[in-house]
Amino acid sequence: MFKHHLKLLASTAALLLAANASAQAPLKIGMVVETSGAFADFGMQMMNGARAYMKAHGDTVAGRKVELIVKDTTGVPDVAKRVAQELVTNDKVDFLAGFGLTPSALAVAPLATEAKKPMIVMNAAASVITTRSPYIARVSFTLPQVTAPMATWALRNGIKKVYTLVADYGPGIDAETQFKKTFTAGGGQIVGDVRTPMRNPEFAPFLQRIKDARPQAVFVFLPAGEQAVGFMKGFAERELDKAGIKLIATGDVTEDGVIDAMGDAPLGVITTQHYSVAHDSAENKAFLKAYAEVAGTKQRANFMAVGAWDGMAAMYEVARRLNGNIDGDKAMEVLKGMKIDSPRGPLTIDPATRDPIETIYVRKVEKAKDGKLYNVEFDQFQNVKDPTK
Ligand code: PHB
Repeated sequence: MFKHHLKLLASTAALLLAANASAQAPLKIGMVVETSGAFADFGMQMMNGARAYMKAHGDTVAGRKVELIVKDTTGVPDVAKRVAQELVTNDKVDFLAGFGLTPSALAVAPLATEAKKPMIVMNAAASVITTRSPYIARVSFTLPQVTAPMATWALRNGIKKVYTLVADYGPGIDAETQFKKTFTAGGGQIVGDVRTPMRNPEFAPFLQRIKDARPQAVFVFLPAGEQAVGFMKGFAERELDKAGIKLIATGDVTEDGVIDAMGDAPLGVITTQHYSVAHDSAENKAFLKAYAEVAGTKQRANFMAVGAWDGMAAMYEVARRLNGNIDGDKAMEVLKGMKIDSPRGPLTIDPATRDPIETIYVRKVEKAKDGKLYNVEFDQFQNVKDPTK
């Protein structure tokens, strides 16, 4: 009799322990990011941004310890797909997140649908991405969203003839299409366009062609990092600025993370984007402090780190609202309409498109007292949505 009781007690205790263990099982976030290859900067920025968020806000939410499981896409969509599949099947992650490059995000979208996994896009910015799965929410931006304000600003400031140069893939084509649309609708003229290759682009011949065409300005989108640095150097070497050709661009081209490697070439360049390190707010100060704690003070943060920080904020909020039990459909309901106090300023996830609605700033590159270059915000367009949806 006594023995029987003991047995019962023991099995009840085992059950309780098991229940407890599952309540406290880690909240797994599968990070699908570029950590090697030509776009390794993207993964570095996003991982530092995500870790900074955990440093500032704790590594436990809704009773679950947060675990980041990092997988390298190497910048190749097929690899992104394979590692995302591993994260779902083997690691049984609660969320998929990261995605620096559009082609990687597109490759993983069908998997998010099939597995009903919320997929948080922290950077990838071709407009179409969020239409590819109902389980995708984006906390970064879209190319048309930052490009339309650039075209409007150019028209307002007497620029009438523009040559466009973009990277030859989804985001670049989005930027080119939107720039032409807004600019010509407002009376501007496109005097030429060029699309540059995604792998090892050589900008000099294109820059010479643009110089010869004598536009008032060249509008540029290139992926942040190495390409932005290569382009800025070429622009200065070919002396397009001295030929009276202005550079207007999306913020990717003068991004904070690598601007130190551009010399003085970007001084005076006008760009539009959703985030600048120079943004003056309490949230941005908290972000930059935490970022420096995880990345050191030499590595400057950029918009991709902010995308990761905000993506973490979104996932923490989902976890809280669902008491730690992450269900794909319920998570998407929480994400739709979510408001985030981002280092960039307030952000809302559009419930209709799952894209961010946010302020787009017009910025000018200036040298600050510390001798460094910054994208200084001087004008803004509020509550900007993706204009293509
Ligand atoms: C993208 O592939 O979506 C992408 C990459 C780099 C950027 C912006 C967008 O700077």
